[in-house]
Amino acid sequence: MSHFQTFTAKEIESLRRAGKVLRECLRLVSTKVEPGVTTKQLDEFAEEFIRSFDGAAPAFKGYNNYPATLCTSINDECVHGLPSPQRVLRQGDIVALDCGVIVDGLYTDACVTAGVGLLPEPVQTFVRVTEDALEKACAIVREGVRIGDISSMIQKAVEGAGYACVRALTGHGLGSTLHQFPDIPNVGKKGKGPSVPAYTIIAIEPITSMGSDVIRESEDGWTILTSDGSLSAHFEHTVLVLPDGGEILA
Ligand code: MF3
Ligand code: CO
Repeated sequence: MSHFQTFTAKEIESLRRAGKVLRECLRLVSTKVEPGVTTKQLDEFAEEFIRSFDGAAPAFKGYNNYPATLCTSINDECVHGLPSPQRVLRQGDIVALDCGVIVDGLYTDACVTAGVGLLPEPVQTFVRVTEDALEKACAIVREGVRIGDISSMIQKAVEGAGYACVRALTGHGLGSTLHQFPDIPNVGKKGKGPSVPAYTIIAIEPITSMGSDVIRESEDGWTILTSDGSLSAHFEHTVLVLPDGGEILA
């Protein structure tokens, strides 16, 4: 698909429901992040929570044969970290909790990065800058915004603070599928790229590195890591584009 999918009022209600379940899921999973917890435990909690809502289902499980509800990417893992009973969270780790919820065939997608216990000050700052970059980008969303406006906002916030955007990984349109037109890069130029119509949804997701933005793939076939072992952070919102602003669905 190389065009934007727009949604009816009824579909927007389904998306709002999905988003609400997803936001609450991530909020609750974040409260369970502490030393000694395994990423498998977080995944099981998330799946059970989502399925407790009538008509809601995890969006990632089974997507391209992905086996879990959450992606749990620890430290130098950028995205698609596989939950495992062998992965125990340790004091000082950072873990990105990425999740999707589907309601009435429509997808929402969101991610937060949580610290395990207290983080060293430089790591706290790095995580906060990544989250701020997402909030700044969401703040300019409205009908007619250009993808390049969003990309450039993220790039300035992240690189301006001395970190890197992982250029190979991007945000995306979504709706009837999890990933669709357009790609939303985390670097780019203001005024460039497609202009976004109202009543569409986009997933904006800065994925950052404290060091190099070069990535590698793990032998598990899913996890993507920084090649130099630098910490990576990831925040994501699904945003509904409206005539006079953006509504954060999840
Ligand atoms: N949240 C991821 C993204 O934004 C999607 C996970 S894909 C899956 O691209 F295969 F892991 F489900
Ligand atoms: Co996404």
